[in-house]
Amino acid sequence: MLEISNLTKRYGKFVALDGLNLHIDKGEIFGFVGPNGAGKTTTMRIICGLLKASGGSVLVDGVDALKRPDDIKRKVGYVPDFFGVYDNLKVMEYMEFYGSMYGMEKEDVDEIAVGLLELVNLADKQDTFVDTLSRGMKQRLCVARALIHNPELLILDEPNSGLDPRARFEMKEVLKNLGTMGKTILISSHILPELSEMCTSIGIMERGKLIVSGRVEEIMQKSMGIQPIHLRAMVPGMEADEAKAHVLTVLKEQPLVSGVSYAGEEYQIHYGGTEQQAAYLLKALVERNIMVSDFHREKENLEALFLEITNAAHAAQVHP
Ligand SMILES: Nc1ncnc2c1ncn2[C@@H]1O[C@H](COP(=O)(O)OP(=O)(O)O)[C@@H](O)[C@H]1O
Ligand SMILES: [Mg+2]
Repeated sequence: MLEISNLTKRYGKFVALDGLNLHIDKGEIFGFVGPNGAGKTTTMRIICGLLKASGGSVLVDGVDALKRPDDIKRKVGYVPDFFGVYDNLKVMEYMEFYGSMYGMEKEDVDEIAVGLLELVNLADKQDTFVDTLSRGMKQRLCVARALIHNPELLILDEPNSGLDPRARFEMKEVLKNLGTMGKTILISSHILPELSEMCTSIGIMERGKLIVSGRVEEIMQKSMGIQPIHLRAMVPGMEADEAKAHVLTVLKEQPLVSGVSYAGEEYQIHYGGTEQQAAYLLKALVERNIMVSDFHREKENLEALFLEITNAAHAAQVHP
């Protein structure tokens, strides 16, 4: 659906996109994550035909975005990272305004707009002035208008930024609905965990390059290797100090254990194995007379994974 190859963008001497490769299948909800300045907005604006690339190629559903920007505008809906000012424009008029930009008839726009406003939970706001809507409502209105021409690819640039938790929740529900409708969605954020729940795939971008990308489950699997296992245990017939020494000895003997620390009556085990292998670790402890009262690994800590990956990328640059 979206195929970006070796995309580069220079602003003068500054390289904002440095040979970006990105592939998104139809129907995917792809989370595009990276710190501020990574190049997310630049990438999105190029895909939409709003900004010229310096090199590389972008295909949307087989159409060359760099050579045929007008055709691309019909295929793509774009929700930018800012919402303009619309003096004296009501919600329905706003939808009609955007529909007219795609050459649509007013009657058609009205009919489609009613459905879209329902989808984004703004059905009762048709006659409200746009400027008086809350920020969350404006964002959802922006999603509705980006869908007015029924695009195949919807691009959202940090749609959650500046929203309160309630508004974020509502935005998430809207996006999930779009996913079930089969739209392909590219959504950016500088906060990784925010995207993990609603995306099917994730790409992490830094300094104009994609440094990791894949299905959410695969990335989660990788993140487990860096999350410690928390263990609480005692050893029958041993005093606390003796028990601790025994547990530490047993743990350090186990394969795939790369480190153990003890704090607050809890052991933290750095373990490189899978969930299944961790079950054998637990079995080994029990067989060595260790009674376990808690054994769990923090899951879904994508933030930690993000830091790990970006730190590794920095280290690689410092020590080439
Ligand atoms: N018009 C511009 N002129 C010069 N530099 C720009 C311009 N637009 C963006 N940049 C720079 O390009 C880099 C990527 O920006 P951007 O794509 O907005 O990143 P993101 O959306 O990930 O925060 C940043 O370092 C930014 O300062
Ligand atoms: Mg941006």
